[in-house]
Amino acid sequence: MRAMRAAPLGGHARVPGDKSISHRAFLFGGLASGRTRVTGLLEGEDVLATGRAMRQMGARIERDGEAWIVEGTGNGCLLEPDAPLDFGNAGTGVRLTMGLVGPYDFGATFVGDASLSRRPMGRVLDPLRMMGVQVAARTGDRLPLSIRGPRAAAPIEYRVPMASAQVKSAVLLAGLNTPGVTTVIEPVMTRDHTEKMLEGFGAVVEVATDAAGVRTIRLEGQGALKGVPDFVVPGDPSSAAFLVVAGLLVPGSDIVVENVLMNPTRTGLLLTLEEMGASIERLNPRQSGGEDVADLRVRHSALKGVDVPAERAPSMIDEYPVLAIAAAFAEGRTLMRGLDELRVKESDRLAAVAAGLKVNGVAHEEGEDWLSVEGRPDGKGLGGGMVATHLDHRIAMSFLVLGLAAEKPVAVDDARMIATSFPEFTRLMEALGARFEAVAERAA
Ligand code: S3P
Repeated sequence: MRAMRAAPLGGHARVPGDKSISHRAFLFGGLASGRTRVTGLLEGEDVLATGRAMRQMGARIERDGEAWIVEGTGNGCLLEPDAPLDFGNAGTGVRLTMGLVGPYDFGATFVGDASLSRRPMGRVLDPLRMMGVQVAARTGDRLPLSIRGPRAAAPIEYRVPMASAQVKSAVLLAGLNTPGVTTVIEPVMTRDHTEKMLEGFGAVVEVATDAAGVRTIRLEGQGALKGVPDFVVPGDPSSAAFLVVAGLLVPGSDIVVENVLMNPTRTGLLLTLEEMGASIERLNPRQSGGEDVADLRVRHSALKGVDVPAERAPSMIDEYPVLAIAAAFAEGRTLMRGLDELRVKESDRLAAVAAGLKVNGVAHEEGEDWLSVEGRPDGKGLGGGMVATHLDHRIAMSFLVLGLAAEKPVAVDDARMIATSFPEFTRLMEALGARFEAVAERAA
């Protein structure tokens, strides 16, 4: 797909449901006893894969008009899947589900696409092994792999060694079917959807934060979970990010992005863009599904380069690719630090972003865990490249946004995987005035 310089973007767009929360709605609804009705769910391929896996283990999940009706098994009552659980491209789906089924005294096999099969699973398997889970993997803690739980899992106290909500969540979910109290220590706060939502489904979870900001999360195992009659998924700030940055970069733009989750563990990009001089107004702040949401009015803005502190990374971890695009149009240099986790996303995102900037004439430097970008506010000379996306939806969407503001069009080698997280992306962007065109079909 190719993106071309656009006339001013205008109008309103409503982003789809949050991916993190949508996965958890299927997981927790599928586990809890009784019925959960979910609205606003992201119907992306990643989330649907999690839904299929929960069905394979006994949950009933059906679409009913705008809503999804989930009838769970009851905590501790998942059934052994009779076929491998296929998570496609979905890291969150596979890692959280491994945690959830780890302590069950049955076998489960996990498979995924080429991108997921390259990603490290040891970060989840290590704590599961401490709880008594056996792992059989052909290639060092990568998919495809099988796990089998012990007769009774042992509760652990686990200090998460990297800033990862997926690892924190996997250990807590393993704790659900483990006798006693499972404790997770989180030195750096990451998105807190698991803790918050589990509480809503009736789990006994306690969170204590010390003076240094270190969080200790205790979960009582083997408690009853109950379906939530009306669960609302707020809009995904990580999807909104592409629209927001497009609105800032395309001259003359004035758009409103509606229903965006404002949970502070997810708003690092907005803060950074505001520091760069972005005009982003938070309209109509309200509560939805127990979370703060707002509509964002975004106007084309002159941006300036900033230093993004490493501590901010967990609250904007999925947004660095599109921030790099914003930085390409900022006056001066933007320095992003603390990016080590970007190396193990759907692609090595640091390398993929650097390579994409290179073929599109954006001056930059790449370090082991940092990236600096030298901007070109008028976009002169930028674009003209074909970007290798490596099965990574966020690389594809970020560089399409670059094409909307660069002097020359920007092409991405594959746009199909955008459907994993944001199937409506091109339609919503085109409704705002973006210009995309399909390039020739890729050779099989
Ligand atoms: C997610 C956690 C993050 C994030 C991913 C979703 C989650 O991954 O990148 O898109 O829903 O818990 P890590 O835990 O690997 O940082």
